[in-house]
Amino acid sequence: MDILMVASECAPFAKTGGLGDVVGALPGALAPLGLRARVVLPAYPGLFPLLPGGTELARLGGLPGGEARIVAAEAEGVPLLLLDMPQLFDRAGTLYQDEQSQDFGDNHLRFGALAQAAARICMGEIEGYQPNILHAHDWQAALAPVYLKMAGRDLPRSVVTIHNIAFQGRYSPDTMGPLGLNPDWFHPEGLEYHGDLSFLKAGLAFCDRITTVSPTYAQEILTPEFGMGLEGLLRARSSVLSGLLNGIDMEVWDPAGDTALPRAYDARSLKRRAENRAEICTRLGLDPEGDGPLFCVVSRLTSQKGLDALLGAVPHLVERGAQLAVLGSGEPGLEHGFRQAAEAHPGRVGCFIGYDEALSHLLQGGSDAILIPSRFEPCGLTQLYGLRYGTLPVVARTGGLADTVIDANVAALAAEVATGFVFDDVSADGLSRAIDRVVDLYATPRLWQKLQRAAMRHPVGWESSAQGYADLYAQLTP
Ligand code: ADP
Ligand code: GLC
Repeated sequence: MDILMVASECAPFAKTGGLGDVVGALPGALAPLGLRARVVLPAYPGLFPLLPGGTELARLGGLPGGEARIVAAEAEGVPLLLLDMPQLFDRAGTLYQDEQSQDFGDNHLRFGALAQAAARICMGEIEGYQPNILHAHDWQAALAPVYLKMAGRDLPRSVVTIHNIAFQGRYSPDTMGPLGLNPDWFHPEGLEYHGDLSFLKAGLAFCDRITTVSPTYAQEILTPEFGMGLEGLLRARSSVLSGLLNGIDMEVWDPAGDTALPRAYDARSLKRRAENRAEICTRLGLDPEGDGPLFCVVSRLTSQKGLDALLGAVPHLVERGAQLAVLGSGEPGLEHGFRQAAEAHPGRVGCFIGYDEALSHLLQGGSDAILIPSRFEPCGLTQLYGLRYGTLPVVARTGGLADTVIDANVAALAAEVATGFVFDDVSADGLSRAIDRVVDLYATPRLWQKLQRAAMRHPVGWESSAQGYADLYAQLTP
């Protein structure tokens, strides 16, 4: 069976968060099940080196934004169909924003073109290639099933996966024309969302199946608190909605073979982590003599992640003899807040504001615990990396965090199944209480190591969810 994935991110080539990790890993996870997945991805500048060695499979005229080439290239084991459209994608900045951190003014055209190109591939634009399933990820790809249905096609069947419902791709109705969307479909049961065009809503309304990235989040988005205005549509379509937990790439995230770590280790050689911790201290200016736990954060700095609450708990964390290493970038207020916290607590709090893949591995490989106080979290990957690396996750009880971490309560400790710490109240107080529990347990190394080993045993790979996607695709194909 052939699956055509469509996404704006795909690790290691183009990534701003977990979406990239998932799209980069899923094709490889599906392959052993006999599913051939290809990923339609914009040719951002980082992918230009792949173009000359690739194979041009089609030229598409009349896309939003003009003409494009589809170039097949295989790299890092991922079969890519690159959308070569320099007029839209040859830009400085991030995948979505210019160098002043402003969204590109033509993002609707950029991702409308991506979605339409995918739909047209499904309609036969590449000779000899007919996908059985169109699988679109997040708002940037969500118009793909819409274009397919607009062309009167019922096949291939389509799946839209919601990685984050907070981002919906909402634009003025004037964009309908340039996107080639049928104006008759602009109504509340179709593409319209409160007077605007919503890419995500449109995709959710017209696809055959909807998935999101954890069972708990699949329930949460049916409520006004988490549905971000789309709960009504999702409730109406709940019979085709399911939650499939993300996995991780077990080769890229493997403490025993991680070249970003000064010292590799496994569950039998946890002492070796000390060397990695020492390297974190050097890199982030932390006191190497600290004998409390070293907490880390690896995150986009946005309100979703609850890190404003962490800023409020920093004095308590330091008072309890713990240390904190922060890697993140995002909202200027939070960036400033963590820089200030590092200045206020020299040797105890260190931060690197920016994006650094290698440093994210080092923090997982040398910290004792990773803090994830999210207000909502569709799945979350950093707690999964934490489990694999024996960096105990300290997480809010929400979405995929609730589905993947077993709290060190009395019962779980007695049964030796605890893998981390789960708390309910995302506030400075709530976090301080969670930090207290971590510091207390860390004081008994024997118990701490038991938790680390249980965490490292917890299955975080793709096997079970890859099978879940395979079953879903099978249900959709005759
Ligand atoms: P989200 O997709 O909401 O950002 P996830 O936990 O699913 O959250 O995925 C985040 C991914 O991005 C992880 O791979 C994490 O390691 C990575 N990441 C986040 N911020 C940074 C950063 N500043 N530097 C390096 N990697 C980061
Ligand atoms: C999103 C979510 C995150 C999830 C990731 C990959 O960005 O915020 O929770 O892990 O997508 O599915």
